[in-house]
Amino acid sequence: MHDQPKFFPQRGTDFYADGRSVRPQVENTVARTQLHEDDYFHTGLINGKEGDGMPYAVNLQVLQRGQERYNVYCTPCHSRVGNGAGMIVQRGYAPAGNFHTTRLESAPLGHFFHVITNGYGAMPDYASQVTPADRWAIVAYIKALQLSQKATQADVAAGSHVESLSEIAEHEGLPAGFAKEWVLPPTAVQGTPDGQTFVLPSTQNGTSGAGSAAATPSTGSAASPARQITPKQ
Ligand code: HEC
Repeated sequence: MHDQPKFFPQRGTDFYADGRSVRPQVENTVARTQLHEDDYFHTGLINGKEGDGMPYAVNLQVLQRGQERYNVYCTPCHSRVGNGAGMIVQRGYAPAGNFHTTRLESAPLGHFFHVITNGYGAMPDYASQVTPADRWAIVAYIKALQLSQKATQADVAAGSHVESLSEIAEHEGLPAGFAKEWVLPPTAVQGTPDGQTFVLPSTQNGTSGAGSAAATPSTGSAASPARQITPKQ
């Protein structure tokens, strides 16, 4: 009993002629949970191109689910309003996408689904954390977020009033530039492999940018033109 014969993952065997303990999938079979009959639902693509539409109907419940999942998985980088100035970015992560640019406002829904599923540049994919149905709910919510930044008084119910992001930032005590596109603060460091110099990002922003006020130390030294800082051992 103690030494039962069994296969360990990725280890070879002489039991099968091909020497592999991991068996290939039997032809013409589908493993449980892997039946992806609705291609668009699982890829966001139609004939290899990003489609523009939801694979299921959207109602308030879907939007609320999307908001909740968005706030869990996306806000650390993209922020609650989707301007790309999330907390991780403020701490030096690559600037995340701002959803309120003309390009992303006109991007097809499938693009957002595709980005969440496969990642995009510096953004990791969220395929294993977020189910396809939830990814679509997030996509629907991002559309609502985009609308929210362009809403006019005519778009909202009577009794509600439209407030600009900068007004909200002001009474929430956020930096005045919060609503603007975020630029890396001069104090941000990029890439810190062991034993190497920290290299500050190149001069894409001379001044400290929107949202960076909190990250700028009050010593004033941050404004110095020094581009290289040797890490303390
Ligand atoms: C760890 C930080 C991080 C998280 C979390 C994150 N993103 Fe991103 N995202 C990024 C970065 C960084 C970029 C910009 C990538 C680039 O341009 O290289 C980006 C870009 C994007 C873009 C723009 C793609 C384009 O066409 O320019 C979309 C859309 C997007 N993210 C959606 C999401 C959604 C939805 C979530 C939540 C499921 C999410 N992201 C979570 C970091 C993140």
